[in-house]
Formats: sequence, C-alpha cells, structure tokens
Amino acid sequence: AALLHGAPQANPSAPAVGSDSERLTIVYGSQTGNAERIARQLADSVERQGLPVRLLRADVYPQRELKRERLLYVIVSTQGEGEPPDDARDLIAFLDSRRAPKLPDLRFAVLGLGDSSYPDFCAIGRRLDARLAELGATRLHPCADADVDIETVAAPWQQAALDTARDTLGERAAPRATVTPLRPRAAGWSREKPFAAEVLLNQPIVARDSGKDVRHIELSLEGSGLHYEPGDALGVWPTQDARLVDAVLATLRLDGDAEVEHGDERLPLSRWLGERCELTVLTRPFLSAHAKRGGHRDLHALLEPGARDELARLLDTRQLIDLLHSHGADWDAAALVAALRPLAPRLYSIASSQRVVEDEVHLTVANVRYRHGEQDRWGAASRFLDTRSEGDTVPVFVESNTRFRLPADHDRDLVMIGPGTGVAPFRAFLQEREAQGARGRHWLFFGNPHRRTDFLYQLEWQAARKRGALQRLDVAFSRDQADKVYVQHRLREHGRELCDWIEHGAHLYVCGDASRMARDVDAALIDILAVHGGRSREDAEAHLRQLMTDGHYARDVY
Ligand code: 2AM
Repeated sequence: AALLHGAPQANPSAPAVGSDSERLTIVYGSQTGNAERIARQLADSVERQGLPVRLLRADVYPQRELKRERLLYVIVSTQGEGEPPDDARDLIAFLDSRRAPKLPDLRFAVLGLGDSSYPDFCAIGRRLDARLAELGATRLHPCADADVDIETVAAPWQQAALDTARDTLGERAAPRATVTPLRPRAAGWSREKPFAAEVLLNQPIVARDSGKDVRHIELSLEGSGLHYEPGDALGVWPTQDARLVDAVLATLRLDGDAEVEHGDERLPLSRWLGERCELTVLTRPFLSAHAKRGGHRDLHALLEPGARDELARLLDTRQLIDLLHSHGADWDAAALVAALRPLAPRLYSIASSQRVVEDEVHLTVANVRYRHGEQDRWGAASRFLDTRSEGDTVPVFVESNTRFRLPADHDRDLVMIGPGTGVAPFRAFLQEREAQGARGRHWLFFGNPHRRTDFLYQLEWQAARKRGALQRLDVAFSRDQADKVYVQHRLREHGRELCDWIEHGAHLYVCGDASRMARDVDAALIDILAVHGGRSREDAEAHLRQLMTDGHYARDVY
C-alpha cells in the first residue's frame, strides 16, 4: 500500500487541508529516514500553528498537481555518489524532463541533506532547487545543505520555513511558534527520548581469526511498548569511551568538571564530550577552526580547493585525537563544544521479527576498528555496543523504514541480496514470513570474505533450508579463491532463473553498502532483465525503475 501522508497527525483544531492556493505541501525524498524525519517535524510544527499542510513522500506525490501548487517545500537527501534517494527518482526525472510544467505561481524552498565527505555533497537538493527556479518558480529561501550533523543546518532552515508558511498562509495562524521535536508516538520513546534497552546477549558471530569483528546483539524492549516492523532500523545513541574523553581533555589541558553552557543546556565538559559530541570523526569545520586557533599553515593549505583529495583522505583516515596530537592549539571548553560536531545516533537494520522474538530486538553489528600507529581507533557506536555486557543498557529508538517492507501478499516470492551485515533485515524477513505462514518462496544471496570465518548466521540459514522456509541460498565468498566473487556474480550466474522469478512478480530487496555493492547489483539486474527478458538495455533499465516505483524493488543501503 502506498503511504500517502495527509496531515501528519489528526488534530481536531487544525483546519481541513485546504485547496492548493491556501495550503503548504511538503515533499520528501529519503533513503535512510533523515529527510523524512526533518519533513515530519516541520509538518507537525506547521500543523500545530493551525495551518493547512500535507506531507508526501516523493514517490506518492501526484506529479500532475505540481502546476497547481502554490507553496512547496522539498527536503531531499543525496546518496553517496550524487544519486537521488530511490523514492525521489521519478519526481526528479519528471522535473528534469520536457514534460515538467512551467511554475510561475509556485513559491518554494529546498533543503538538501548529504555527507560532505563525498564530492557531490547535496547535489540532488541543489539540482532540484535550480530546476524549480528554471521552471519559473520563486525561491523563498536559499537552498540549504545539511551535513551529517543534520540539525545544525536543518533547524534554522525549518524555523525560517515555518515562519514563511505562517506569513504566507497566516490569516488563521496562531502566534509565532518554534519548531519542536516531533510529538512522541504512542509508546512515548523517540529519538529525543530513547528507551534504555537491556542487553540480553552480545556475542561474536565470526570466527576469532576472521578479519572482521561482527556481533549478534539481542536487546530487551520489555515494558517499552515499542513496536517495529521487519525492515525498520533501531537507532542507538552511543556514549564515547571514557578513555577517549580523558585523552581529549588531557591533550587540550582542559578540566572535565568545568561547566559549559551550549544551546539550552549546561553540563560538565566531560559529559558534553562523552554524550553530546562526535569524538571519533574529524570534520572539515573542526579542522578549519583548529587550523585558525593554532595558526597551522599546513592545515590551511589542506583547505584550499586544490587539496580536495588530500583533505578527503585525511578526514577519512584520521580521527579528532590524531589531529590534536599532531597539531597543538588553545581551546577553551565552550569553544570546543561549539566546534565539535553534535553526536548523532547510529541506525542499524533490525535483524529480528517481533512476531517471533516478541519483547526483543536483534542487531547485527560490524565493529569498526583499526590501528593508527600504536593506537587503537574505533567507531563510536560499534565500540559502545562492543563493550556493553549482559545487563547493561543501551539508549534506543525505532526508526521506521516504510520503503523497505514485505509484500502484503504472502504468496509473493522474495529475492534478498544482503552481503556482509546487509543480511540483517533478511533474518527479520524470514522470521516474519515463516510466522505468517507465507507460501511465497525465498531466495537469499549472501557474501563475505571467507566461508569458514565470515558466514553470518550459517546454521540458521541451513536450518531454514531444511525446514523448507528458505528455498534458495547462494553465497559469494570473495576471498576464498584467486578471483573475487561477489553477490552480483552469483546473480548473473542464475540470471535465467532470477529473471523468471522477477517476471512472476517476486519482490527484490538489496541491503548493505551503497556506493559499490548496491550500484553493481543494480547494473547486474539490468543486464539480467535485458539478456534473459528479451529487452533492450533501455527497456530493461526502465523496467527495473518501474519495479522500484511500484515498491517491488527496494533498497536499504548506506
Ligand atoms: P571484499 O572485501 O573481499 O572485496 C561484504 O563486505 C562482502 O562484500 C565482502 O566479501 C566484500 O568483498 C564484498 N564486496 C566488496 N565490494 C563489493 C562490490 N562492489 N559488490 C559486491 N560485493 C562487494
């Protein structure tokens, strides 16, 4: 079922959603849920002002209504290499095409989300913004580009957008208000107010001599009332390792007990660093501020346009503490807190079905860990989870992913492509389908470096094969032979049969690495539809895009 979001929540005092000329439309395109969250938050705040608003995911936006639209806000993310999110592909193609109408009566604003470590940062938002203006629409606010610390840029944009909506539609409006966090859902636990979930199990699921460190973690949701669907993600708020906090404090000769005020909070510096700031990443804004404070010419040189690749490499391979060690600078506590990127929760695709595990939620977590010289470096959340033992708690919330859903029809076949920890949601899918008594068939493609050490959930898949719950299992162990073998090679090997499954209405799912794997799998699927489906390449590509639009080809990629 398509998710047509009307007014986000029933609010008896809000006016009915008005005609095009007197209402605001908010459209979002989201891959991992951030654009959706920002859009919902804004819609919720607009609605609470008593203003007519509708909120629509880009793929259910009725394109022919565009020419009647008067006030439109678009919030859209950019994937890795400058790609649109899957749900916005169609709308963007429509706007780019000659079919796009002139829009002289439209007023609009665009917020782009992205990751500034990629060169095409927020490219999709910018492109949309430029195209709407080219079609004759009036820009209300400059296009804003939000980096991974989304709120820093998104919050002021949301506030300006809310104020403008109020001024534009405002006859009936309530007094000026500020954008506030979403009203909590029934359960009352949210990103802003996470639930403390107890660790029930935390165990490695790769062999000791694997090159990877992957864990299966089971958490208790008992008493939370939290509900999740297969395909959803669990948000985890990490706490920084205390030794890292101490190392930052010691290097900068700062007192962890000093009280610091920032935003509307007052906390000791050690808590700011431990619970509110990113310490395991190095960002361009921090590097720039540090260069200024320390008068470091070599760092300034890195910020020149010509040094882009060198800078990208540095940000990718060095952490904050490495910079503090290599380049000194005087920081006071308040300036430091303001310059660091605010901590963001990490999202993990849920690996269990609530129908089966009830009050639990399971995760498959890859630990990001490496050596820098003599020292260990790690990712904040995986380090945090790695060091939680049974009985410890983890602050969590459910992030729904409405694009990555099982078919309502239990007779549909599923093709699931999930190398590495991308296999997690397919464990949830299989559990759910078995509990449903679904009659559709299941085909899983899994890949990892070595069969012996890295075959995640091997026994579970094999048991499911025996029970007849998993009809096909194809694996690609990339380093077990001289030449690399990846999941897309397996897809191609079974192209004819796969094409049959697809022609018979199978739903396709891909989860895992976005920039390489998902792109290569996409290309393999197009080839397969061309070679075995008797289509031209253009038709095969159009067909795959149509499957995506219809919700038969869904991706949970990051
Ligand atoms: P590699 O590390 O041996 O190159 C999960 O990380 C698995 O995905 C690993 O076996 C990894 O192989 C593989 N992988 C790396 N790049 C890939 C790509 N472009 N497409 C599919 N799988 C890939």
